[in-house]
Amino acid sequence: MAVNAARKWWQTAVIYEVYPRSFADVSGDGVGDLAGVTSKLDYIANTLGVDAIWLCPFYPSPQVDFGYDVSDFTAVDPVYGTLGDWDTLVREAHGRGLRVIIDYIPNHSSDQHPWFTGSRSSRDHPRRGWYVWADPAPGGGPPSNWTSEMGGSAWQFDAATGQYYLRSFHPEQPDLNWRSPALRDAMLGVLGFWLSHGADGIRIDVAHMLAKHPRFADNPVREQPLRNLTDRQHPDFDTQEHLNDRLQPEVHEYLAMMRHVLDDWSRRTGRERVAMAEVEVMPWDTWSRFFGQRDDGVQLPFNFQLIEAEWSPAALAASIEGQEAALPLGAWPNYVLQNHDRPRLATRLGREHVRNAAMLLLTLRGTPTLYYGEELGLGDLPAARDRWLDPLGRDESRAPMPWTSGSGGGFGPAGVSSWLPPYPDLGTVSVEAQLRDPGSVLNLYRSLIALRQASPALLAGSYETVRAASACLCYLRSTDEQQVLVALNLGPGRAEVELPRLGRVLLDTYGRCEQAPRTHLDLPPYSGAIVELDLSQRS
Ligand code: NOJ
Repeated sequence: MAVNAARKWWQTAVIYEVYPRSFADVSGDGVGDLAGVTSKLDYIANTLGVDAIWLCPFYPSPQVDFGYDVSDFTAVDPVYGTLGDWDTLVREAHGRGLRVIIDYIPNHSSDQHPWFTGSRSSRDHPRRGWYVWADPAPGGGPPSNWTSEMGGSAWQFDAATGQYYLRSFHPEQPDLNWRSPALRDAMLGVLGFWLSHGADGIRIDVAHMLAKHPRFADNPVREQPLRNLTDRQHPDFDTQEHLNDRLQPEVHEYLAMMRHVLDDWSRRTGRERVAMAEVEVMPWDTWSRFFGQRDDGVQLPFNFQLIEAEWSPAALAASIEGQEAALPLGAWPNYVLQNHDRPRLATRLGREHVRNAAMLLLTLRGTPTLYYGEELGLGDLPAARDRWLDPLGRDESRAPMPWTSGSGGGFGPAGVSSWLPPYPDLGTVSVEAQLRDPGSVLNLYRSLIALRQASPALLAGSYETVRAASACLCYLRSTDEQQVLVALNLGPGRAEVELPRLGRVLLDTYGRCEQAPRTHLDLPPYSGAIVELDLSQRS
């Protein structure tokens, strides 16, 4: 039976985020590359069994922000390979039924991009208006109080022309001006370029930031900074309410333009393209606008709430129900627990929570995105602060993927040092070691993904929270043909869960299944189970 016949591919897909610098190095320079990703497609498509990859940036870049500072939007940085390597990757991925989503970075370029070197050369340059330039404030100094995500003012003075340019991130990442029609055309052209090279979709970087207040009005200053310690944003960031440097209504017009390009390609080629968007955690009603008023926004605006939610049944249920309630008619939910900007979950919450996190992510209603290495239960790799390459310390969650147990972890050719040090415990964390161990976290992910893909209820069923013992998060996923109960004991003690009807365990967090029908579950600490309920008993 085709369990996903009525769904779009990105609704039934599990998406896997690949950070190319850290995935696999074929060229032997210590940095991962596109050929490295291609060399691991069998692992991604067959061993792990996911459906799509999202590739973090691989474009020419001075690497100040590790690829998010792009100096040519339509080429491949030699450190990652060539356009030919990209074409090979896409062809090989498609040959295995895998979709490929690219990172699209519309908010800023590198200061080395010829667009910016032109723009900064004179106030009269034809591309001056492609970036956000402003005169100093009347008494001198920056035009507004906006702060950069990397710390300090978001405005950078440029003595040559006596104006400031906006840089919401590093000084080397000037913001592009989406209010300029010519800039918009150029950036939409970039989209067309990658779609014509086979991309199946885009992940839009900081989509919420595309439109700023047209007169650069100050942000309100917070009396009490938020200090969200799980986040790696610079502390300056939460000293103000970011009302005017982002989220202006035009954001949605610009996203609709991107969607239009994608839809046009979908129609012309008969292959549906998807837009995912990075949007910061925000109130649900603001978030839901990213779908667009007439399904003309992005199909998957990242829902980062679970990255920040307290790991308790009540907080998780509230967050899940919050998304369900906020979804516009016909819109599809999504979930994510980790990414390349955030601490890995095993570090944030503790290793004991990794298996429940896997079961949660892969049994919720909505498209899950996994971060490379999440399937191994990896934690961050602490680096001494004085050796951080990234000022926000994000290197710690970007360590080289541990493929084998031997020295270097099989990241690159033998004897080559990787750009960040390898995991020290390769004998237990590597793919090789975990594939040998039937009870490993990797094998749990493989079973969960396979089960999800075969289960009508998990793929497309409704979601309903079920009241249970206080340490347990329990929910039902139901279609007419199948009903599944997921029970996750998040606490350190045993927990008993009464089943609403007889059920059999399809999978528990130790990787086991059980044919015998049962009336209740007795869950050890930090463990969970997926139970198929007997529908013949339905009243
Ligand atoms: C979000 C990306 O995920 C992050 O890595 C980057 O530093 C900023 N956007 C700027 O592009």
